[in-house]
Amino acid sequence: MYKDFLKKIKRYLCIIIFTNIAILAITVPLLVYFIIHSKNDEVTPVNISNTTTTAENQLTNGFTTKISTTNNNNQTSTSTQLVFWNIDKSLNTGRSNFGSVLLANGQVLVAGGLLNSNTDYSGTEVYTSTGWQVATSMTGPRGFHTVTAFANNTKVLAAGSAGGSNASGISISAAELYIPSSNSFINATNMNIARCCFTSTLLSDGSTVLVTGGINAANSLITIAELYINGSWIPLSSSMTQVRAYHAAVLSNDGTVLIAGGGSGTPNAYSSAEIYNATTQNFIAVGSMQYRRGGLTLTLLPSGKVLAIGGADWTSDTYPLVCELYDPVTRTWSNALMLNYGRSFHQSVLTNTFVLTMGGTNGTSNRLTSSEKYNL
Ligand SMILES: *[C@@H]1O[C@H](CO)[C@@H](O)[C@H](O)[C@H]1NC(C)=O
Ligand SMILES: *[C@@H]1O[C@H](CO)[C@@H](O)[C@H](O)[C@H]1NC(C)=O
Ligand SMILES: *[C@@H]1O[C@H](CO)[C@@H](O)[C@H](O)[C@H]1NC(C)=O
Ligand SMILES: *[C@@H]1O[C@H](CO)[C@@H](O)[C@H](O)[C@H]1NC(C)=O
Ligand SMILES: *[C@@H]1O[C@H](CO)[C@@H](O)[C@H](O)[C@H]1NC(C)=O
Ligand SMILES: *[C@@H]1O[C@H](CO)[C@@H](O)[C@H](O)[C@H]1NC(C)=O
Ligand SMILES: *[C@@H]1O[C@H](CO)[C@@H](O)[C@H](O)[C@H]1NC(C)=O
Ligand SMILES: *[C@@H]1O[C@H](CO)[C@@H](O)[C@H](O)[C@H]1NC(C)=O
Ligand SMILES: *[C@@H]1O[C@H](CO)[C@@H](O)[C@H](O)[C@H]1NC(C)=O
Repeated sequence: MYKDFLKKIKRYLCIIIFTNIAILAITVPLLVYFIIHSKNDEVTPVNISNTTTTAENQLTNGFTTKISTTNNNNQTSTSTQLVFWNIDKSLNTGRSNFGSVLLANGQVLVAGGLLNSNTDYSGTEVYTSTGWQVATSMTGPRGFHTVTAFANNTKVLAAGSAGGSNASGISISAAELYIPSSNSFINATNMNIARCCFTSTLLSDGSTVLVTGGINAANSLITIAELYINGSWIPLSSSMTQVRAYHAAVLSNDGTVLIAGGGSGTPNAYSSAEIYNATTQNFIAVGSMQYRRGGLTLTLLPSGKVLAIGGADWTSDTYPLVCELYDPVTRTWSNALMLNYGRSFHQSVLTNTFVLTMGGTNGTSNRLTSSEKYNL
């Protein structure tokens, strides 16, 4: 199914190239303006009220959020946030469908993914104060997989990487653990089900991991979720309210896991969302996002709200630039700041001082190297 999706991306290449030419004419001068005006990555208010653009500018309290570049899109943000995304340091290797995690030393690890040729990749990089640096490779190539940090990473770091597709593009059940002290990956117990395009989320106990959805080795959507508990994988008896792959999941402060977006692998993306309650081990639906998003990311912010970033709406062939904010109290979404570039199958990580989003694909054949961040 995800192979079909990759073919589909190629089909839209021509449309997107023409769109890009138009977009570049608008974005390049604006980007130059932003870069000049953002000293040391600090969030700088930029007055763009007199900028000529077909897109709508949003001015709030004298600050601007972002300009809507029309990435095959027609959208504006009603955000009142006083921040916008800054272009940050680029990855060494453009990649999509990879995993990422914040390490205990404050560095961000990205692992594996798909390269321009759609081949799975084992290479990793870490984001340091001086930019992205190539790091040790995983034991094998994988894409459409997940990387999860365990709570013991405050003492001895362990980032696990599970499932994904192997060099043949087939879903696998293999899991491995990254041991920072030896800078190496070791094998862990296999999942019960081979999966790619799924989610894995550390629960509030600091050691249990919830794995949901995805696509199995026979190219079917997976209804069964499983838990990684003390080194074993246990299937759950309850299923998500929506069978999904290419979705995202994140642990909220109330102990529930928010699961949103994704798709069926056919040209359908979802805006729906649900939460997993670790006490009842059940899933219940919550408010839907405004935009359909497959291959999005969800990031828990210090405010306790969750930011949905990017993704692709395969139903309307657009890449939402508008991010959306989930409120766990009202269980609804509101529009938030806008990305500079549409991206799907990217990754986003919260550090102490900023949110970093990197890589992915925007429908062109080349994977994105670009990173964007905004300071908290
Ligand atoms: C916007 O720019 C145009 C052309 O430079 C100028 O004539 C106009 O007065 C400006 N508008 C405002 C509100 O500054
Ligand atoms: C932005 O520019 C417009 C037009 O030049 C002006 O009216 C407005 O006061 C400016 N806003 C800020 C915050 O500088
Ligand atoms: C963009 O959205 C506006 C407002 O919703 C609508 O009037 C307009 O027709 C849309 N344009 C395109 C090209 O879809
Ligand atoms: C990929 O995984 C499938 C299913 O587990 C397996 O049969 C195949 O040998 C693997 N191929 C490679 C190149 O690892
Ligand atoms: C780790 O697992 C892979 C298959 O996922 C296997 O090829 C390899 O031999 C294993 N390594 C060890 C040390 O068991
Ligand atoms: C960290 O915790 C995970 C999950 O409990 C466990 O599998 C792993 O072995 C632990 N790593 C270390 C180095 O203790
Ligand atoms: C995991 O193992 C530890 C140590 O044996 C135990 O205290 C804990 O309750 C176990 N966790 C679960 C979820 O069973
Ligand atoms: C999870 O379920 C338990 C048991 O029904 C309930 O007490 C708790 O409030 C639920 N958590 C949330 C965040 O809804
Ligand atoms: C899509 O990504 C390519 C790099 O792969 C970039 O050159 C292009 O500007 C991007 N297009 C949009 C609309 O962001």
